[in-house]
Amino acid sequence: MTLRITTKEEYQLAYEKSVSSPRTFWAEQADTFEWFEKYKEVVEWEFDTPSVKWFIGGKTNITVNCLDRHLKGRGEQTAILWEANDPNAESISLSYKELHSRVCQFANALKAQGVGKGDRVVLYMPMVVELAIATLACARIGAIHSVVFAGFSASALASRVDDATAKVILTADGNNRGKKHIPVKSIVDDALKLGCKSVERVIVLNNTGLDVTWGDRDLWWSDAIKGQSIQCSPEPMDSEDPLFILYTSGSTGKPKGVVHTCGGYMVYAEYSFKNVFQYEEKDIYWCTADIGWITGHTYIVYGPLLAGATSMMFEGVPTFPDAGRFWQICDKHNVNIFYTAPTAIRALMACGDEWVEKYDLSSLKVLGSVGEPINEEAWQWYSEKVGKGILPIVDTWWQTETGGIMISPLAGITDTIPSYATLPLPGIQPCLVDAEGIEQPAGEAEGLLCIKHPWPSMLRTTWGDHQRCQLTYFSAFKGMYFTGDGARRNADGAYRILGRVDDVMNVSGHRLGTAEVENAINEHEAVIESAVVGYPHDIKGQGIFAYVICKDGAANDPEFKAAINKVVVKEIGPIAKPDKLLVVPALPKTRSGKIMRRILRKIAAGEGDQLGDVSTLLNPEIVETIKSHAADV
Ligand code: PRX
Repeated sequence: MTLRITTKEEYQLAYEKSVSSPRTFWAEQADTFEWFEKYKEVVEWEFDTPSVKWFIGGKTNITVNCLDRHLKGRGEQTAILWEANDPNAESISLSYKELHSRVCQFANALKAQGVGKGDRVVLYMPMVVELAIATLACARIGAIHSVVFAGFSASALASRVDDATAKVILTADGNNRGKKHIPVKSIVDDALKLGCKSVERVIVLNNTGLDVTWGDRDLWWSDAIKGQSIQCSPEPMDSEDPLFILYTSGSTGKPKGVVHTCGGYMVYAEYSFKNVFQYEEKDIYWCTADIGWITGHTYIVYGPLLAGATSMMFEGVPTFPDAGRFWQICDKHNVNIFYTAPTAIRALMACGDEWVEKYDLSSLKVLGSVGEPINEEAWQWYSEKVGKGILPIVDTWWQTETGGIMISPLAGITDTIPSYATLPLPGIQPCLVDAEGIEQPAGEAEGLLCIKHPWPSMLRTTWGDHQRCQLTYFSAFKGMYFTGDGARRNADGAYRILGRVDDVMNVSGHRLGTAEVENAINEHEAVIESAVVGYPHDIKGQGIFAYVICKDGAANDPEFKAAINKVVVKEIGPIAKPDKLLVVPALPKTRSGKIMRRILRKIAAGEGDQLGDVSTLLNPEIVETIKSHAADV
């Protein structure tokens, strides 16, 4: 059994041990898993290049630990419980035995298409059980999965497929999301027209019955699995073989492919799941994220299944058919552990308390929050209305790159403070540094959040470009992983995450680079230059404010805004549409020609009267002009 901490004292002891003897601490966790061959060394690392290896020489397969090892003790227990978009549709329940069979069957189908160890498979799919099945099937045969959130556009999909040089794309005819029926396959068709030369096969799930256009590379899912055996030997994977690539936005350039490896990710996923949520046998656990994001990878698929839990998957959206949907599902399935994002909490809070009060939520034991800072008002509402004032809330801070939860209360054990992610998990050594990289002494402090020691589920590289990994995360401060977040620490050592300090926005919990959105806007023929910043938004956490310099003729009117939205949706997807757009004659620049984003951020936040001295700008006069127009958008 992986360690499960149950008291404050145990937490303290475990934490101290993880710092004084990290190798022993992590070996004890790793030894609870099934390995084909035991590792020879727990960890070897240096953060300069960087090179980080965990459980060196070990051979395992994560699906053996997610599925096979549960067959004897809990073969009939539900592994995945699926709830449809349509509240009147039947739920699906897959036992560990059934899930094992279906994963093996699809793994064989992939093999029949020539997919093998190390090949990349992109999954562009709705939140249906086949998405979880296919993810695990890739892992079964050692293929590297790269799940792309199905809300991304054809262009965004194509650039990820090309970067990963994927051999196969897995998709569906359509996707049911609230009232919308999204033609997923046709988006894949468009992506294939834009590039994707490496793709040999597109396997299409018949999900909604939507009409599709058929090409030479296409194969129906049902045909792919026909006649395939429900047994498939797991591929022995080295601890450090890649398990998956997940693309995420950074402050510059195109999204990068964060690479996670088999052994360390596996160990940390189960360890963090059990401890943070205080999972107990037979708990029904529901994480509302999409598998297209890291939260879905670690805390819908891998973490819960490693722990032998029942993991819920939901196809739909929180407000369909009404704002009571989440609570109706909790009531229907007697959910015990519920994990969602602040943006959903704020949106539901705005719809009124009656939606929560309508349902019986007495099964709930633990509430979780992830993806962005949770403001105090939302925390209180979540605590009082959903948690009836008694449930623990775990505000979990982590990132795509960290693979698992890093700073969080352990439910019911750690004292919570609204808007604080509180304490690091044992094994995690955060610190706050100033702009020069000087570590702030223990106790109360504010600074840039870094991590000093490696942890098993940290990223190993960025796909195809190791130097980018080095530059992005390991070059700012020597010997440390830099998170890109600012944080405050109180005298008791509890952390409050303040948000990104780089040009990364967090819009409804979705991570977007300002440069990425600017590049999309610049695709419009009338645009000469643009600058995008985030600003505080009541529901989304951050909204997108775009300042645009245009050729003659473009004006601040709804038509132009709609045209810009169209290019952004085409280049990235609806999540990146600017909330506010202002056509400006020029942008404030330094004498070296750099856009002064600080000023644009202040104006976007409605704090244009607190700009301080702007006289050193190349064009200080533009500030007043922008300020006077910004109030109107
Ligand atoms: O800024 C932090 C914010 O989300 C960023 C990571 O985004 P992503 O890689 O998409 O992963 C999101 C899900 C793990 C972080 O750099 N963030 C995440 N969780 C929190 C948070 N900010 C404050 N509090 C959190 N609990």
